[in-house]
Amino acid sequence: MAEEKRTSAIPGFYKLKPSERLAKAKEFSGLSDEEATALSKEGGLPSDVADKMIENFIGFMPVPMGVATNFIVNGKECLVPMAIEEPSVIAAASNGAKLCRSTGGFKASSTEPLMIGQIQLAGVKNAKEQAAKLAKDKYVLLDVAKGLTSSLEKYGGGARDAEVRLVETRRGDMLVIHITINTGDAMGANTINSVCEKMAPELERMTGGKARLRILSNLAVKRLSRASATWKKDEIGGEGVVDAILDAYELAVSDPFRAATHNKGIMNGVDAVALATGNDWRAVEAGSHAYAAFGKNYSSLTKYEKDKQGNLVGSIELPLAVGLVGGATKTHPAAKAGVKLLGAKSAGELAQVMASVGLAQNFAALKALSTEGIQRGHMELHARNIAVNAGASGDDIELIALQMAKEGNVKVDRAKQILEKLEKGNAEKGEE
Ligand code: MEV
Repeated sequence: MAEEKRTSAIPGFYKLKPSERLAKAKEFSGLSDEEATALSKEGGLPSDVADKMIENFIGFMPVPMGVATNFIVNGKECLVPMAIEEPSVIAAASNGAKLCRSTGGFKASSTEPLMIGQIQLAGVKNAKEQAAKLAKDKYVLLDVAKGLTSSLEKYGGGARDAEVRLVETRRGDMLVIHITINTGDAMGANTINSVCEKMAPELERMTGGKARLRILSNLAVKRLSRASATWKKDEIGGEGVVDAILDAYELAVSDPFRAATHNKGIMNGVDAVALATGNDWRAVEAGSHAYAAFGKNYSSLTKYEKDKQGNLVGSIELPLAVGLVGGATKTHPAAKAGVKLLGAKSAGELAQVMASVGLAQNFAALKALSTEGIQRGHMELHARNIAVNAGASGDDIELIALQMAKEGNVKVDRAKQILEKLEKGNAEKGEE
């Protein structure tokens, strides 16, 4: 599809049949027939591939994959693949994105893809002095790391820094060496872990300590992604709604009980994109929550304020260690299709979309929660599912769902009664 005609705003997308939605997504993203088939096949993962991905493979636990519409990230229209079992998440993200289209959508950025690896040295005598000495020699450590990562240089990657930390523990002071590596478009776990393991014997020799853990840190504070957006007050319900959202946000800043739920909502979106693109969502989860408490009390990953016109400006910053090469991104056919669907050309671009989705998700949740509550929207979705269970199809689904939601009586029996009535009405019309 020509770039100028591409728009991720597809009115009535949710009303289409899954096959029609897939056809639209295929056209938008230029998916091949094979890629589209990987998505349309239940599970999307052949047994022989699955058997090589994990140990003791016995079967599947499929998760539905959908696309969020309306996203513009750094001027680029995108349909965002999201794999998630929870209803309302994709609708909320699409709605949050729709309401900031008039101001250009999301502006996003990310730092260099710098991952940190840790080498723990226990039993070091005179640990404080040794730490100071080693810190002076950090360029020696960095040179060793550079030697071990020279193959990454042609991709713009490689070792960037070495730091020496002294960590007080109940088993005495320990030295912890941090090696920072630019892992390019890979998440980087394998590279980091290999470098840490290879450097450990030399560090033992230098310090007389015993190398214990040699592993990456998921608190990827040097691999941050940011996104921001402006929602015009008149498009989101006026000044009252802006104030309601700001009140809701302030509670997340000051109260960890609320912050956990606030950030969970953000991660609904972030994890769903991670899963749809074959990324390690547990790594992303661990990093994000740890970052929310990094150097402060656990708090919100997003920020909100009013601009001079009284519009709502939201922003997010979180560590996103995600990649486009290696792991399931390359082996899982549905994840490969997810990456293609999104059209991200680099790990940074993927992370920027993920940050934007997290912000859209959070905005939509705060808007709903601080005004009418989320139960009505949830009820409508639930009602649609019940209508489908009762045998409804096409436009009947919506009609039945609305009627049941209005009555506050969302049950399969009631859905069947309304469906019967609709079908009778249609048959009578046909006879006229
Ligand atoms: C539910 O999965 C997510 C929310 O609880 C997020 C929030 O409260 O901000 C709705």
